[in-house]
Amino acid sequence: MYEEALKEFDFSKVEALFFAGDMIFKGRWYEFSNVLKVTRKFTDKPIYACFGNEEFDVAIPLLMKKYTEVTWISDEHTVVELSGEKIWVVGSKGVLDRPTRWQRKNIPNIDNIYKERMEKLRELIVEGKNKKYTTILLIHYPPTYSTLVGEPRYAWPEMASSKMEKVLKETKPNIVIHGHSHNSKKTFTMLGSTRIYNVSLPATKKITTIPIKWGLLEFFS
Ligand SMILES: [Fe+2]
Repeated sequence: MYEEALKEFDFSKVEALFFAGDMIFKGRWYEFSNVLKVTRKFTDKPIYACFGNEEFDVAIPLLMKKYTEVTWISDEHTVVELSGEKIWVVGSKGVLDRPTRWQRKNIPNIDNIYKERMEKLRELIVEGKNKKYTTILLIHYPPTYSTLVGEPRYAWPEMASSKMEKVLKETKPNIVIHGHSHNSKKTFTMLGSTRIYNVSLPATKKITTIPIKWGLLEFFS
């Protein structure tokens, strides 16, 4: 599906690619070689990525060590220069309102991890906004329920975070890019002045283009 989407996409105005996590399956970090190989058939632009739930925690150090041409953003920020403008990009795997059964069983302090991560993301977004940068949140788990329409309602708390939506309302990042919601029927919404894109490839069936006033950003998840 990914290669088909790449084939159909016009890369002529693309300045950077943003991957919103789940680039591999079940922690098989070496599969990322295939992702890079196929991507590089079409574009040599810089790649920025956050991790998803399929990038198991044990795989993350290996991905970071092996694939240094990717800028991995994990509960931190990076500054991206596009067309001479600086963009503040905060990246994270994200948080869930209710940890999954697997997470509760296997990660004993998962509630605290999510709580602390949410506060960290709040601080990072505020920092970018205070510096007057265009601020992007690149995050795997949806930080809102509004782009989950099409997914079974009972599953939403274990797929996304409405608590994180409150953080977005308060901090007002310019753009949010998320993945994880494969059956979403609503892949774009506005939250106040914040544009929210679900770029999950099974939902969009194409690579999503995000226009920014000085050019275009491209990404998929
Ligand atoms: Fe996911």
